[in-house]
Amino acid sequence: MKHFLDINITDPADLRQMIDHARVMKDARAGRPKGTPDDEQPLAGHMVALIFEKPSTRTRVSFDVGVRQMGGQTMVLSGNDMQLGHGETIADTARVLSRYVDLIMIRTFEEATLQEMAEYATVPVINGLTNRSHPCQIMTDIMTFEEHRGPIRGKKVTWCGDGNNVFASFAHAAGQFGFDLTFSGPPPLDPEQVFIDEARARGAKVEIERNPQKAVEGADLVVTDTWVSMHDPQSARERRHNQLRGYQVNEALMAHAKPDSLFMHCLPAHRDDEATSAVMDGPHSVIFDEAENRLHAQKAIMRWCLGV
Ligand code: CP
Repeated sequence: MKHFLDINITDPADLRQMIDHARVMKDARAGRPKGTPDDEQPLAGHMVALIFEKPSTRTRVSFDVGVRQMGGQTMVLSGNDMQLGHGETIADTARVLSRYVDLIMIRTFEEATLQEMAEYATVPVINGLTNRSHPCQIMTDIMTFEEHRGPIRGKKVTWCGDGNNVFASFAHAAGQFGFDLTFSGPPPLDPEQVFIDEARARGAKVEIERNPQKAVEGADLVVTDTWVSMHDPQSARERRHNQLRGYQVNEALMAHAKPDSLFMHCLPAHRDDEATSAVMDGPHSVIFDEAENRLHAQKAIMRWCLGV
């Protein structure tokens, strides 16, 4: 069973194969209308369940379109509308869904929910985001970086802001793909030490630098994310804005990174909070390539899971 649950527990050779495969599939579709099928139809006859316990635009649409382009069918399910949201166990849900569908993608809150789904499902399970990680996003970000700048190995990535679930998957990826990672944010919002320790144990250079200008020096890629994540209470908004204001990615900060540095944000963004519109729409930004590449990267992930 090939689940795609996290980057740190997936074989590096398989991760590399997925990124390269995504690029090949993207190139093969160049210029074609989005609704046309791929030449290859590897998911023909396959049914994919897409479960959302949290809101989504990119994950929902890119998985749905990706399955259809590859000849499969989808059912998009809201956790609240399922018995899952009314007390049925994850384990029973996993066993039942496995009788109907060939692949399950789930976006949920707790990592334990994802793990229980994977333990009891008899079909592959893909992590579409938990409070703890977002591996599909970071596979996409690596694909996007390499599309613009070549191999990410040995490059410097600087993260400005909250040490959240998206940062965690960057740390997982630093260890697996061999790039340097600098975190710049206030101490209360530091990532869990385990993410840093694991990446370092795999040979990645991972640093914490409180001064964002120093943190982006020499950076090939500058990344940020929303200051208040979906799982954070809205009551934390004002405190977080006060904590993170100094870590905003603006043109003055980008001027300290390499001249050809890229800027990424997984979106959705709160423009002029974590990043200014001048940066988001400026010459360093690849945010919409990043959004598009969710489609291509996840198609490769699904094919890897299903072995097709
Ligand atoms: N980046 C991302 O996962 O976007 P959605 O929340 O819209 O799916």
